[in-house]
Formats: sequence, C-alpha cells, structure tokens
Amino acid sequence: MVDVILGLQWGDEGKGKIVDYFAKNYDIIARFQGGPNAGHTLYVGDKKVVLHQIPSGIFHPDKINLIGNGVVLDPVTLKKECEAVEALGCNYKSNLFISERTHLILPTHRALDKASETSKGNDKIGSTLKGIGPAYMDKTGRNGLRVGDLLDKNFTTQYIKLRLKHQRLLDNFNFHEDITPWEEEFFDAVEFLKTLNIVNGEYFIHEKIKTGKRILAEGAQGSMLDVDFGTFPFVTSSSTISAGVCSGLGIAPQFIKEVIGITKAYCTRVGSGPFPTELTDETGDFLRNAGNEFGSTTGRPRRCGWIDLVALNFACMINGVTQIVMTKADILDSLEELKVCKSYLTNGQETTTVPFQMNRIEISPIYHSFEGWNSDISKIKDFSALPDQMNNYIRFINNYLGVPVNYISNGPGRDQIVAG
Ligand code: GDP
Ligand code: IMO
Ligand code: MG
Repeated sequence: MVDVILGLQWGDEGKGKIVDYFAKNYDIIARFQGGPNAGHTLYVGDKKVVLHQIPSGIFHPDKINLIGNGVVLDPVTLKKECEAVEALGCNYKSNLFISERTHLILPTHRALDKASETSKGNDKIGSTLKGIGPAYMDKTGRNGLRVGDLLDKNFTTQYIKLRLKHQRLLDNFNFHEDITPWEEEFFDAVEFLKTLNIVNGEYFIHEKIKTGKRILAEGAQGSMLDVDFGTFPFVTSSSTISAGVCSGLGIAPQFIKEVIGITKAYCTRVGSGPFPTELTDETGDFLRNAGNEFGSTTGRPRRCGWIDLVALNFACMINGVTQIVMTKADILDSLEELKVCKSYLTNGQETTTVPFQMNRIEISPIYHSFEGWNSDISKIKDFSALPDQMNNYIRFINNYLGVPVNYISNGPGRDQIVAG
C-alpha cells in the first residue's frame, strides 16, 4: 500500500515538516522526483534541518528512506547532507537506500543550467541552478549516467564522453568558467556514494509491498511546477504530480491509496512565471516577513499572495487528492481581513479553469473576503478549539475543492499540527 504526500502550489508548502509528521505511520519513505532544487525543512529537537535529496523520514531510526529512480541525484550535495544528518545522530548507512536507476547530476549539468539561464536574459526561469533541467534532458535524450553506472569499470570513460558533449554545448553558450574544482569534489563524492546502499529500487519496493509494508511517497516542488501541467515554461523538469510516483518508483497505479495534498493557507512562488494572486503591496511584504518566506535552497525572497482556489482545484483534479493538509495557518493570525481567489477574469470572461498559457494573458483574480480570526492559533491542538472565523475560511475551501482539509499546521514545530 502506497500513500503520497505532495505540494499543490509552486513548492515550499511545508512538505518536509508534514512528511516527517506522517512518517511514523509508514515503513518506507521514498522520494520519486526532483533533486537538490528541493529544500525540505524539518526540526529535530530545536535544530532546523533542510533536506535536499534525502527523504524527510530520515530522522525516524526504524524507517527505510529510498531515493527513487525518478530523482536526479547530485553526489556532492548528497555527501554533505549525509554528513549533516549524521551529526544529528542519524544512521544513514543503515536506513538510506538509492535506486541504481537514479540519474546523476554532473558538474557540467550545473554549468549548463547556469549558461542556459544566463542566455535567456529577462526570460529566465529562475532556476535554482542545481543542474536539474540539463540532467533530465540527458535522461530523456538518452545520454545520462545513472547511479548503477558508478559500479561499472568504464564509468570514467563514459563520464569523459558525456563531458565532451557538454563542453561543445558550453562553448556554444560562450561559458568559460573553470569547473575543475567542481569535478574534484564530484569524484570525491562519487567514491562516497559507492559506499551507500545501492539497490534495484523497483524490486526493493515491491518486496516490501508484498509483505504488507506501508510506503509513503514524498513529492518535491509542487503541482504548478509540474513539467506537463504547471505554468510552462516556468516549471521544473519532472513529473511532480501523483502520476510521477508510478514512473519515479516503479509502482503500479492500483497500489496508490491516499493522495495527501499540501497547501499553505496563502500562496508563494520563488522564481519567475505567472502568479495571479501575487501581492506586491504591504500585505505581500507582511506575508513574506511573518512567514519567513525566503528560499530554503537559494535564500531568495519568495513572492507572496492570497490562496488561489482555481489553481488548487486544478491541482486536486490532476493529482486525485483525497485529503488536504493546510500549513502556515498561524501566519494569518493577525490579519483583519483574508481573501481567497475563487475565479479568474480573463478577456472580460469569468472562469474557474486554469488557462493554457497563464503568462500570455491578463488574469485578474476575483476574490471572496473573510473576516480574520485575529488570535494566536499556534498552541491549539484540537479542531474544536479553532476560532469561528477560521472554521468559515476552512469550510469555504473544503466546499470549493470538494476535498476535506483534515490537518492544519499551526507552526514549524514537529508537534504543531491540528488533526481533524
Ligand atoms: P517544503 O519545500 O515544502 O518542505 O517547504 P520549505 O521547507 O521549503 O518551506 C516551508 C517553511 O515553513 C519552513 O521554514 C518550515 O519550517 C515552515 N513551516 C512549515 N509548516 C509551518 C507552519 O504551519 N507554520 C509556520 N509558521 N511555519 C511552517
Ligand atoms: P521544494 O521541494 C519552490 C522552482 C525554481 C524555478 C523553477 C525551476 O522545496 O518545494 P529548477 O531548479 O527546477 O530548474 O527551477 O522551479 N523550484 C522550486 N520552487 N520549491 C522548490 O522545491 C523548487 N524547486 C524548483 O525556483 O522557478
Ligand atoms: Mg522548499
């Protein structure tokens, strides 16, 4: 049996904290896509940890954490992450597993990411520059190298062949930075990676499923960054939606049960691209400061705005979301008035459909307003203790989406969650 936790917006919904919270109910926590562009924050005691590639169940000593074949893996980041979690008492040597089919991010992928973004000028995507796009291009272009290739005696030859190909592309981009130090770091990290548990991920997970083990698939990024259904071209390069679980872990659809979607009580986006409910006024600044909305991976300020139910409804539809977790509700505590976007006005027409090219048309959000709850909810443990105004807010969202909001996260702490 497999459940999924994924983001319904443009990433950073609080997946790290929520996966860590739910992990106790599962035997295996598995990442199915993305790479070090992700930054998943969780707390171990009072220590803040940001995970990029290691699944967010790693601090549960009795759980297996699997990096699936759908991920693109940077050995350099992985080594640093392993050292960081070990310093907090985590034994990654026994509970971290990596699929041999997982594609590798090479130093030249990072260089190509940078060169490609620079060449786009004002049209840049706002990539995290971790080499994600070029690594997935080499996967679909059938050039990429995989974790299993590291164990082959011809790995260095294969690496040099691909590097030469990349060099020609970099020359075209007029990119001449010296990446030799990156390569030294890479080969050092490769030796480290070879000492980890490298497995055939799909057989590994099926053996567990056959013996009744419970799997939690952890998404990275968010549905609006999905390569097919997001705000293309301002998206990431992987399938961030529930369908990505099947191809990213080798699991057939019928094994998937619950799809738990996470949304913030408002909305953020980092990087370029359309964001209909973005607030560039003092309310936007308030959300950024109160919510500490600065990227976990890059430190960039996140763009902030009201929750967008048109986009959320779309995300629930393509993912088959069965229940919702709403995070960062506490950030709205002091607001007098709250808004939710219930439709878009485009070319004089009101619509509740996400348009094909959001960035080519003018979208004016149509809002429904609510009285704020104006009280501190961060210590509440029980749904029945939530303020009436908050119940109104949640009920409206429940009814609009037709999916229950079963959990409300009211602070970054491990135990700050109200379960319905
Ligand atoms: P992820 O990428 O989806 O895992 O999210 P990030 O870790 O990038 O960003 C979420 C941020 O919000 C982190 O700093 C979390 O510690 C924090 N956070 C998560 N849930 C809550 C919440 O309910 N309230 C508050 N105040 N912070 C939260
Ligand atoms: P988590 O898992 C928020 C955004 C980047 C950029 C676009 C493409 O922490 O929610 P990429 O590096 O993939 O080429 O960038 O996607 N992006 C994220 N935004 N959270 C993330 O991950 C993101 N991963 C990528 O800012 O706009
Ligand atoms: Mg994040």
